[in-house]
Amino acid sequence: MSTEEKKNEAGYGTTGHVWDGLEEWNNPLPRWWVWTFYATCLWGLIYTIAYPAWPLVDRATAGFLGYSTRAEVAEQIAEVDAQNADLRTALAEADLTMISDNADLQNYAVQGGAAVFRANCSQCHGSGAAGVQAAGYPNLLDDDWLWGGTIDEIAYTITHGIRNEQSPDSHWSEMPAYGRDEILGEDEIGQVVHYVLQISGQEHDAAKATPGAELFLNECSGCHMENGMGDPTQGAPNLTDAIWLYGGTEETLTETITNARFGVMPAWSEEWRAAGGLDQAEINAVAAYVHQLGGGQ
Ligand code: HEC
Ligand code: HEC
Repeated sequence: MSTEEKKNEAGYGTTGHVWDGLEEWNNPLPRWWVWTFYATCLWGLIYTIAYPAWPLVDRATAGFLGYSTRAEVAEQIAEVDAQNADLRTALAEADLTMISDNADLQNYAVQGGAAVFRANCSQCHGSGAAGVQAAGYPNLLDDDWLWGGTIDEIAYTITHGIRNEQSPDSHWSEMPAYGRDEILGEDEIGQVVHYVLQISGQEHDAAKATPGAELFLNECSGCHMENGMGDPTQGAPNLTDAIWLYGGTEETLTETITNARFGVMPAWSEEWRAAGGLDQAEINAVAAYVHQLGGGQ
């Protein structure tokens, strides 16, 4: 049977395609479908002229509306910056102990401080601020402070750093290298090590710790205090707790006392750095962030 001969009710024949005896009617596309199709083609054409679309060698056509996502992002950032300008000024000028009284300011400071910390501090103190044990990078989450844990003391430490040549006001103290500089003999160092093991509540040899106590009083108590609890004005750590900057085993204690350590932290205020320094708002932000981590006093 030819296609001309067979017609459906609307008067259309078949396409002549047959599958397993099934024939296909040659019905035209519905009107609404055809017009929608033309409309989308037109829309597509106008869109590619109006907006950036056609790829060129090193960019795309700009489109006559001049739209760009980058410009839009820049605009949004400028908007947020404008909104935050007041907070930023307030933070830079804030009395540090008052920041936590203002919820908006505290929130802004802690969020900004977390970002400053990730970018500048985490390589030494760890991304969670837990420090790097045995490397001398202190944990900033606990309430054990080398140089003091009030927000003003924390901000001072960050501004000037520790044992650096950048700020003339950086924290400074130097534990003597008792072995290297021959202040104590090897036996005496062994004795004082066992005394430190004793006051930190670890297993020790009492026969060594007893003369060690005498040595400690003479040599060490000026910085670590008679009771061994340390002195934050000299950055001398508490030796009686289980929190160690470098480690509390007999071996690491012997190394610390023989050669001393001299941990250095850079100054962060832009006043003391040629590059990569923090402005006052950033210092206050990161101080507020560190202070609220858990150990702030
Ligand atoms: C290059 C490594 C390094 C970087 C980077 C660094 N620190 Fe430190 N930080 C140290 C060392 C080492 C100490 C301990 C020094 C010592 O023995 O007294 C320290 C100590 C501190 C202390 C004193 C802790 C206490 O117990 O008193 C604070 C607070 C601190 N850092 C905050 C920061 C902040 C905030 C940043 C980022 C802006 C930062 N640090 C970046 C190495 C670093
Ligand atoms: C002039 C001050 C001073 C004197 C004296 C001193 N220390 Fe220290 N000590 C420090 C400082 C500061 C640190 C911090 C480490 C650093 O320099 O990076 C320290 C660190 C230590 C540590 C490391 C603690 C840790 O957490 O890892 C031990 C242990 C220690 N001292 C024991 C002694 C003993 C024992 C003596 C006496 C034989 C002594 N110190 C004398 C200032 C002093």
